[in-house]
Amino acid sequence: MSEQRKIPVILDGDPGHDDAIAWTLAHASGRFDILAVTSCCGNQTIEKTTYNARRVCTLIGLDAPIGRGCPHPLITEPMNAPSVHGESGLDGPVLPEPVMDVSALGAVELMAKTLRESHEPVTIVATGPETNVAALLLAHPELKPKIKRISVMGGGIGFGNWTPAAEFNILVDPEAAKVVFTSGIPILMAGLDVTEKALILPEDFARIRAIGGKVCSIVAEWLEFFYIFHRNLGYAGAPMHDPCAVMALIHPEVFQMRDMYVAIETNGEYCKGTTVGDFFGTSGQEPNATCILGVDRQAFADRLVEAMEFYKEAEA
Ligand code: BDR
Ligand code: CA
Repeated sequence: MSEQRKIPVILDGDPGHDDAIAWTLAHASGRFDILAVTSCCGNQTIEKTTYNARRVCTLIGLDAPIGRGCPHPLITEPMNAPSVHGESGLDGPVLPEPVMDVSALGAVELMAKTLRESHEPVTIVATGPETNVAALLLAHPELKPKIKRISVMGGGIGFGNWTPAAEFNILVDPEAAKVVFTSGIPILMAGLDVTEKALILPEDFARIRAIGGKVCSIVAEWLEFFYIFHRNLGYAGAPMHDPCAVMALIHPEVFQMRDMYVAIETNGEYCKGTTVGDFFGTSGQEPNATCILGVDRQAFADRLVEAMEFYKEAEA
């Protein structure tokens, strides 16, 4: 069987337990050429998510330039999620101190340089608020043709999590999400419709822990930490929000998807930050997003566990 071409990507996120697992999956899969990693302000302050990005890259041996993201959303004040991810933004297991520095370029300019220098269009995987990506599109619209697609964790066609209607990443910076969703660049949207179904169960943590080695034991602890928060809300496992945005690029067959037009509500008394999906095509607008709506949970869990085997060999 011929080797599949690697997908050139930029990973933009706010680690965050599920961001960290998404990046750990991306690196382990061997299916990506990870050209740059950028931090964004979301789960915690930009100082904390940048530090976490460096710690995660150090842990998993991901050697790519790291760009520090915008310190706040495009026009609103930052909003963080310590109740979910802790005060550090990545509470739980002790992580190694970073060995890699941040780039002299901030996230937006690092992304721009990366796109300019890439021979083929690059996929951006955005697993936090979309501030950096929007700032990139506003500052460098000429680089749009260099972006193949944007794989987003954000929103939900059916419901929200931080308000009844809005999901955290979109709610934090709805103006940025609007720039992204109206950019004309193909959007792959992993919203709550699918991510709430992509549960990793305690028996799956045990499979990852049983692989052995440092990275797998930390991934199992991240899962445990994330699960404890969600278990208190009645979940049977840890919802893998951000890993869906990576998994959908390499194993689309485990998901169900539907193209539709998605608008972003930037105001609204009840619906600020909502991704309004035109499920039945009533707006007459052409689809701007492929929305992931369902997943074969067992297959998703199996692919995640299998990918983690990479670290056993990498650490040997
Ligand atoms: C999203 O919010 C963050 O807490 C997670 O990292 C994920 O990106 C889920 O709503
Ligand atoms: Ca995230």
